[in-house]
Amino acid sequence: MLNIEIIVGSMLGATEYVADELKAKLEQHNHQVHIHLNPKLEDMSFDKLWIVCSSTHGAGDLPDNIEPFAEQLKNTNLSDVKFAIVGLGDTSYDTFCEGSKQLLSLLQKQNAKLVHTPLYIDVLEHPLPEEAAVEWLEQWLVEKPELI
Ligand SMILES: Cc1cc2nc3c(=O)[nH]c(=O)nc-3n(C[C@H](O)[C@H](O)[C@H](O)COP(=O)(O)O)c2cc1C
Repeated sequence: MLNIEIIVGSMLGATEYVADELKAKLEQHNHQVHIHLNPKLEDMSFDKLWIVCSSTHGAGDLPDNIEPFAEQLKNTNLSDVKFAIVGLGDTSYDTFCEGSKQLLSLLQKQNAKLVHTPLYIDVLEHPLPEEAAVEWLEQWLVEKPELI
Protein backbone atom coordinates (compact mmCIF):
# COMPACT_ATOMS: atom_id res chain seq x y z
CA MET A 1 0.00 0.00 0.00
CA LEU A 2 1.29 3.44 -0.95
CA ASN A 3 0.36 6.92 0.20
CA ILE A 4 -0.15 9.12 -2.81
CA GLU A 5 -0.57 12.86 -3.33
CA ILE A 6 -2.49 13.80 -6.48
CA ILE A 7 -1.60 17.40 -7.30
CA VAL A 8 -4.05 19.10 -9.67
CA GLY A 9 -3.63 22.04 -12.03
CA SER A 10 -6.96 22.88 -13.67
CA MET A 11 -8.84 25.92 -14.96
CA LEU A 12 -12.10 24.42 -16.17
CA GLY A 13 -12.38 21.17 -14.19
CA ALA A 14 -11.46 18.46 -16.73
CA THR A 15 -8.26 17.61 -14.85
CA GLU A 16 -10.21 17.34 -11.60
CA TYR A 17 -12.26 14.50 -13.17
CA VAL A 18 -9.01 12.83 -14.17
CA ALA A 19 -7.74 13.11 -10.58
CA ASP A 20 -11.01 11.71 -9.18
CA GLU A 21 -10.91 8.68 -11.48
CA LEU A 22 -7.24 8.00 -10.75
CA LYS A 23 -8.02 8.20 -7.03
CA ALA A 24 -10.92 5.73 -7.35
CA LYS A 25 -8.75 3.25 -9.27
CA LEU A 26 -5.85 3.58 -6.83
CA GLU A 27 -8.18 3.04 -3.88
CA GLN A 28 -9.45 -0.16 -5.49
CA HIS A 29 -5.82 -1.28 -5.26
CA ASN A 30 -5.71 -0.32 -1.57
CA HIS A 31 -3.55 2.76 -2.01
CA GLN A 32 -4.33 5.84 0.09
CA VAL A 33 -4.83 8.98 -1.94
CA HIS A 34 -5.19 12.66 -1.18
CA ILE A 35 -6.19 15.10 -3.95
CA HIS A 36 -4.84 18.67 -3.76
CA LEU A 37 -6.96 21.11 -5.77
CA ASN A 38 -5.21 24.09 -4.21
CA PRO A 39 -1.70 22.67 -3.93
CA LYS A 40 0.74 24.10 -1.41
CA LEU A 41 4.17 22.73 -0.66
CA GLU A 42 3.50 22.78 3.09
CA ASP A 43 0.60 20.32 2.61
CA MET A 44 2.73 17.74 0.78
CA SER A 45 4.59 14.78 2.18
CA PHE A 46 7.90 14.23 0.44
CA ASP A 47 7.92 10.52 1.21
CA LYS A 48 4.66 9.91 -0.71
CA LEU A 49 4.36 9.30 -4.43
CA TRP A 50 3.22 12.47 -6.21
CA ILE A 51 1.02 12.19 -9.28
CA VAL A 52 0.94 15.64 -10.85
CA CYS A 53 -2.05 16.16 -13.16
CA SER A 54 -2.23 19.44 -15.02
CA SER A 55 -3.82 21.02 -18.05
CA THR A 56 -2.28 23.88 -20.06
CA HIS A 57 -3.87 27.29 -20.56
CA GLY A 58 -3.09 30.62 -22.17
CA ALA A 59 -0.29 29.94 -24.64
CA GLY A 60 1.50 27.09 -22.93
CA ASP A 61 0.91 28.40 -19.40
CA LEU A 62 0.13 26.64 -16.16
CA PRO A 63 -3.39 26.85 -14.73
CA ASP A 64 -3.66 29.66 -12.16
CA ASN A 65 -4.27 27.31 -9.23
CA ILE A 66 -0.94 25.48 -9.62
CA GLU A 67 1.30 28.46 -10.43
CA PRO A 68 2.08 29.36 -6.79
CA PHE A 69 3.00 25.71 -6.13
CA ALA A 70 5.35 25.70 -9.15
CA GLU A 71 6.99 28.85 -7.78
CA GLN A 72 7.46 27.15 -4.39
CA LEU A 73 9.09 24.16 -6.08
CA LYS A 74 11.79 26.37 -7.61
CA ASN A 75 13.34 26.88 -4.16
CA THR A 76 13.03 23.33 -2.87
CA ASN A 77 15.24 20.26 -2.89
CA LEU A 78 12.96 17.41 -4.01
CA SER A 79 15.50 14.60 -3.96
CA ASP A 80 13.22 12.49 -1.72
CA VAL A 81 10.21 12.85 -4.03
CA LYS A 82 9.08 10.25 -6.55
CA PHE A 83 6.54 11.42 -9.09
CA ALA A 84 4.55 10.78 -12.26
CA ILE A 85 2.94 13.27 -14.65
CA VAL A 86 -0.40 13.40 -16.44
CA GLY A 87 -0.91 16.32 -18.82
CA LEU A 88 -4.12 17.42 -20.50
CA GLY A 89 -3.91 19.53 -23.61
CA ASP A 90 -5.14 20.11 -27.09
CA THR A 91 -2.99 19.39 -30.15
CA SER A 92 -4.50 22.34 -32.02
CA TYR A 93 -2.13 24.48 -29.88
CA ASP A 94 1.58 24.66 -30.79
CA THR A 95 2.16 24.56 -27.06
CA PHE A 96 0.59 21.11 -26.61
CA CYS A 97 0.77 20.12 -22.92
CA GLU A 98 3.47 22.73 -22.32
CA GLY A 99 2.21 23.33 -18.76
CA SER A 100 2.67 19.73 -17.66
CA LYS A 101 5.99 19.56 -19.53
CA GLN A 102 7.14 22.63 -17.58
CA LEU A 103 6.18 20.90 -14.33
CA LEU A 104 8.10 17.78 -15.36
CA SER A 105 11.26 19.81 -16.10
CA LEU A 106 10.93 21.74 -12.88
CA LEU A 107 10.49 18.63 -10.73
CA GLN A 108 13.47 16.95 -12.37
CA LYS A 109 15.59 20.09 -12.02
CA GLN A 110 14.86 20.01 -8.29
CA ASN A 111 16.01 16.35 -8.24
CA ALA A 112 12.64 14.62 -7.92
CA LYS A 113 12.63 11.17 -9.52
CA LEU A 114 10.26 10.37 -12.37
CA VAL A 115 8.99 6.80 -11.82
CA HIS A 116 6.72 6.22 -14.81
CA THR A 117 6.33 7.33 -18.43
CA PRO A 118 4.53 10.69 -18.60
CA LEU A 119 1.06 10.68 -20.12
CA TYR A 120 0.03 13.59 -22.36
CA ILE A 121 -3.65 13.39 -23.23
CA ASP A 122 -4.97 15.15 -26.32
CA VAL A 123 -8.53 16.14 -25.44
CA LEU A 124 -9.40 16.28 -29.15
CA GLU A 125 -8.66 12.58 -29.39
CA HIS A 126 -9.99 11.76 -25.90
CA PRO A 127 -13.15 13.73 -25.13
CA LEU A 128 -13.23 11.80 -21.83
CA PRO A 129 -9.58 12.24 -20.77
CA GLU A 130 -10.16 10.34 -17.51
CA GLU A 131 -10.56 7.14 -19.55
CA ALA A 132 -7.10 7.55 -21.10
CA ALA A 133 -5.68 8.32 -17.66
CA VAL A 134 -7.19 5.22 -16.06
CA GLU A 135 -5.91 3.07 -18.93
CA TRP A 136 -2.40 4.47 -18.36
CA LEU A 137 -2.69 3.77 -14.62
CA GLU A 138 -3.97 0.23 -15.16
CA GLN A 139 -0.99 -0.52 -17.39
CA TRP A 140 1.34 0.88 -14.72
CA LEU A 141 -0.34 -1.26 -12.05
CA VAL A 142 0.16 -4.34 -14.23
CA GLU A 143 3.84 -3.54 -14.72
CA LYS A 144 4.44 -2.50 -11.12
CA PRO A 145 1.59 -3.12 -8.65
CA GLU A 146 3.44 -1.06 -6.02
CA LEU A 147 3.90 1.76 -8.56
CA ILE A 148 7.50 2.68 -7.60
C1 LIG B 1 -8.04 29.56 -23.29
C2 LIG B 1 -7.44 28.18 -23.47
C3 LIG B 1 -6.09 28.05 -23.74
C4 LIG B 1 -5.51 26.77 -23.91
N1 LIG B 1 -4.17 26.67 -24.21
C5 LIG B 1 -3.63 25.44 -24.40
C6 LIG B 1 -2.25 25.29 -24.74
O1 LIG B 1 -1.49 26.26 -24.85
N2 LIG B 1 -1.75 24.03 -24.91
C7 LIG B 1 -2.54 22.92 -24.79
O2 LIG B 1 -2.05 21.82 -24.98
N3 LIG B 1 -3.87 23.02 -24.47
C8 LIG B 1 -4.43 24.25 -24.29
N4 LIG B 1 -5.76 24.36 -23.95
C9 LIG B 1 -6.57 23.14 -23.84
C10 LIG B 1 -6.79 22.71 -22.38
O3 LIG B 1 -5.56 22.35 -21.77
C11 LIG B 1 -7.74 21.53 -22.37
O4 LIG B 1 -9.00 21.97 -22.82
C12 LIG B 1 -7.87 20.87 -21.01
O5 LIG B 1 -8.73 19.76 -21.13
C13 LIG B 1 -8.43 21.81 -19.96
O6 LIG B 1 -8.38 21.14 -18.73
P1 LIG B 1 -8.93 21.82 -17.40
O7 LIG B 1 -10.44 21.89 -17.55
O8 LIG B 1 -8.54 20.91 -16.29
O9 LIG B 1 -8.30 23.17 -17.28
C14 LIG B 1 -6.33 25.62 -23.79
C15 LIG B 1 -7.71 25.77 -23.51
C16 LIG B 1 -8.26 27.03 -23.35
C17 LIG B 1 -9.74 27.15 -23.06
